[in-house]
Amino acid sequence: MNINNTPWWQRAVFYQIYPRSFMDSNGDGVGDLQGILDRLDYLVKLGVDAVWISPIFPSPMADFGYDVADYTGIEPIFGDMETFDRLLSEAHRGGLRIVLDYVPNHSSIEHPWFIESRSSRENPKRDWYIWKDPLPDGSPPNNWEATTGGSAWNWDDNRGQYYLAQFIKDEPDLNWLNPEVVSAMEDVLHFWLRKGVDGFRMDMLPHLVEHPDFPDNPPIPADHPFRSIGLTLEQVHTVDQPETHAIVRRFRKIFESYEGDRVIIGETPLFDMAKLASCYGQNLDEVHIPFNFKLLLTGWNAGKMKAVLEEYYAAIPEGAVPSIVFGNHDFARIATRFGRQNLRSAAVLLLTLWGVPTMYYGDEIGMENGDIPPDRLQDPWADPGKGTGRDPERTPMQWKNSPNAGFSPPGVKTWLPVADNYRSINADSQEGDPDSNLNFYRRLLKLRRDLPALHEGGFEFFDPVPQGVLAYTRRSGEQQILVLVNFESQPHQLDLSPLGAGARTLLSTESGEQDRVDLSRVGLGPNQSLILMLE
Ligand code: GLC
Repeated sequence: MNINNTPWWQRAVFYQIYPRSFMDSNGDGVGDLQGILDRLDYLVKLGVDAVWISPIFPSPMADFGYDVADYTGIEPIFGDMETFDRLLSEAHRGGLRIVLDYVPNHSSIEHPWFIESRSSRENPKRDWYIWKDPLPDGSPPNNWEATTGGSAWNWDDNRGQYYLAQFIKDEPDLNWLNPEVVSAMEDVLHFWLRKGVDGFRMDMLPHLVEHPDFPDNPPIPADHPFRSIGLTLEQVHTVDQPETHAIVRRFRKIFESYEGDRVIIGETPLFDMAKLASCYGQNLDEVHIPFNFKLLLTGWNAGKMKAVLEEYYAAIPEGAVPSIVFGNHDFARIATRFGRQNLRSAAVLLLTLWGVPTMYYGDEIGMENGDIPPDRLQDPWADPGKGTGRDPERTPMQWKNSPNAGFSPPGVKTWLPVADNYRSINADSQEGDPDSNLNFYRRLLKLRRDLPALHEGGFEFFDPVPQGVLAYTRRSGEQQILVLVNFESQPHQLDLSPLGAGARTLLSTESGEQDRVDLSRVGLGPNQSLILMLE
């Protein structure tokens, strides 16, 4: 494949910033745009290509920015438009792309559109949201369930009707079957694309449109992954409707009307791989990179990981690229989910599997889920009886070994508590240690960038290997790379002679690794990964 013909995002590594938690430049305990600007050097030095920033738009913060009250403004807590413009141009100057978060399924309950819509049944925006009369007994129009549990229908005294909110009640669903909504939301895309943003991650895309007849959803199957978040119904009539695909094709046309290969990344929690693959569009004319949620829910197990990947890769349409993502602001951190001993192997997988990787801020230094005392819980999904919601994976970035970890000035009450382990786990103390997690990530990212086999090569699993080990090759032209990942604490000796006689070690999760390897006797220590260049 000719490198010059592939769009930048196919070879890119994305780094997600949760802006409230990255860097607080003005000492109010909440991260901000100036903070990101101040840390651009860190990101450039890390070696990522693009930064996806979770929502930065004006918001009452009922869902910490995913409840947008103005799609073309900047939330004052984060800064102002001038700072954003500077961030964009400085990032571009440093060779970093900026991807923003577009939240099309719902707005904030405080968005002027919703305020108008709920003001009367005669208002011109009355059909901008999904309003329905109650059933004769006053109950909601059907059984649709919010992702956070309970009915998705919320009573409004003023209109004497229910409005639909598939997430929290402060996030009313926009009515995408109304052309005025489509046009207003397309204007939003134009606004930011004109400014020069490199793309969007689009929140909960499959939820955009609901079945026009509002039928009840059926009970959720016993093996459905979303049982784990407490759902009792399968979202058959509220997710992945044909009209949604038509809308995304319109988005895609807009993106293509701008220069520079702007990218659409989709938040696409679909667990049927054929449905997930359909998000690329029949003619690859929809989402460029639909996130694979199965990977976000797969445990640290070689067999399971392989099965998920095989099914996923087989479903990827010709010419499309997969997405590799193990963590984000909605799921446990990889150090916690996979275990500290597997942190580096998880990084190896993330950055050498076939697909576009998305990292989550802080994973490069091995941040863990924080402990959030009940009186500090913030997440609307948290329920002191049931769990801490998503706060533990959103704690402030650990920059250095000083009070508040260098995120906020000492003495400031940060919006979520800084994790106690900041004294040992922080970017500053890892900076000068060649064997740190941070420097491991840097080496790995550089390797991926330097070697076409890793960023655009073919992919094949190698078998047989002992249980608990994954082996795969990446090939581009003459370049042949073998990756070995030991998921378990039991060491192994592998005979890989079908792949040749010898190989050279490019990277190991352990220090002091031999440079040359005899492929008939490759030793793999506990939880160790190796990246080898085949000869
Ligand atoms: C997505 C976001 C999540 C948010 C939800 C509703 O899943 O990642 O943080 O709460 O959508 O917008």
